[in-house]
Amino acid sequence: MQGFTRRDGVLYCEGVNAEVLARAAGTPTYVYSAGVIRDRDTRLTASLKAAPHRVHYSLKANSCRGILEVLRTAGSGVDVVSGGELFRALRAGFKGEDILFGGVGKQAHELREAILAGVKLINVESEAELRMISQLAGELGRTATVGMRINPEVDVQNAHAYIATGEKGHKFGIPIGEAEAVGKVAIGLPHITLAALDMHVGSQLHSFEAYRAGTARLVELSLKLRTLGAPIRYLDSGGGLPVPYDDESEPDLNAYGAIVTAAANALGAELLVEPGRFFVAASGVLLTRVLYRKASGEKTYLICDAGMTELLRPSHYDAYHKIDAVAPRSGRIVADVVGPVCETGDFLALDREMPDVHPGDVLAVHTAGAYGYVMSSHYNARPRVSEVMVDGARWAVVTERETYEDLVRLEAATPLWRNA
Ligand code: LLP
Repeated sequence: MQGFTRRDGVLYCEGVNAEVLARAAGTPTYVYSAGVIRDRDTRLTASLKAAPHRVHYSLKANSCRGILEVLRTAGSGVDVVSGGELFRALRAGFKGEDILFGGVGKQAHELREAILAGVKLINVESEAELRMISQLAGELGRTATVGMRINPEVDVQNAHAYIATGEKGHKFGIPIGEAEAVGKVAIGLPHITLAALDMHVGSQLHSFEAYRAGTARLVELSLKLRTLGAPIRYLDSGGGLPVPYDDESEPDLNAYGAIVTAAANALGAELLVEPGRFFVAASGVLLTRVLYRKASGEKTYLICDAGMTELLRPSHYDAYHKIDAVAPRSGRIVADVVGPVCETGDFLALDREMPDVHPGDVLAVHTAGAYGYVMSSHYNARPRVSEVMVDGARWAVVTERETYEDLVRLEAATPLWRNA
């Protein structure tokens, strides 16, 4: 499924003209294709059919209600990492059994919320957290079903250093060498059931060897913990499926599926997967209007109404996002595409060869559906932008643009001073 195509040179999202959308919804705005998300769900699910499985979309990639609706309707579950994400998931209609709750620094109130929601698994990152969950569950008169996130200490290739998570010494998970001992603690605690082992070794993993090596370690450890009394019935292989941002190829889903389903079958467990980016990255563009074009030194700058506050990935990870003009433009230029924020690091692209655009033209920043809106900020007191969902020939604003009032809503104009 091609969510974004050209008709008479003009960019369309499914059946909707992107220039018309930019005018109607204003810029900057994120635009998502529902069809792309559904198509990805269908293909991923097909690749996992060799084993009993459930897909849990990692909500951190984009937690917008409109996207959650599409995925819930398609039958997906979710993976959340905070009380806020849990709140969003429940509000979008996901039930406890649809939800995995992970995260390296869960607070007591978040754990209570997850226990009360009856989430399918709380993925635990340390012995201290296991003890806290058992105590909280006991106080609430419940038993919590937990997974242990293991750091399998495998080589992770192709991931940016900031998003590799499964190598020795990373902050995430229980180190593999301690896992059996921590597992024994879990088995002995009164108000938890250890039902899964989990890993997430990194994001944007073009090589699947880390999945192979990591799940093999999880299977071995699960078999051992079963003999010690843990009723392990799930294998959670995490997220990390890559997407092409430039001219890389699409991941070979069948190769991926073969690796993770074989591991689950070897264990006789249900497979859980937690991809985020894979579902939504290619479903979204950020539409931004060129405000000014100016020359400085040797450079041409396109100053746009979106920048690092709307899409942080280029400046934070040096990430590449393809950029083109929504309307056809003849001629090419080399330019820095920058935002209005008062930072030299505020850019969407540097030294980019691109269409010869001028003020007033709308640009589409591609593959922006994952880790775009969710990483946006209010820096320079910039209200958050709107989000639009397109489904066939229909479109809707699924998140309104913030107003100036939204920026100051929580501030006290006259603070309530108290004495020490
Ligand atoms: N599960 C866990 C435990 C995770 O930590 C993550 C992502 C995922 C699943 C989903 O990973 P995905 O399938 O989306 O690769 N902001 C960065 C990405 C950070 C990923 C953090 N963890 C970026 O813009 O590239």
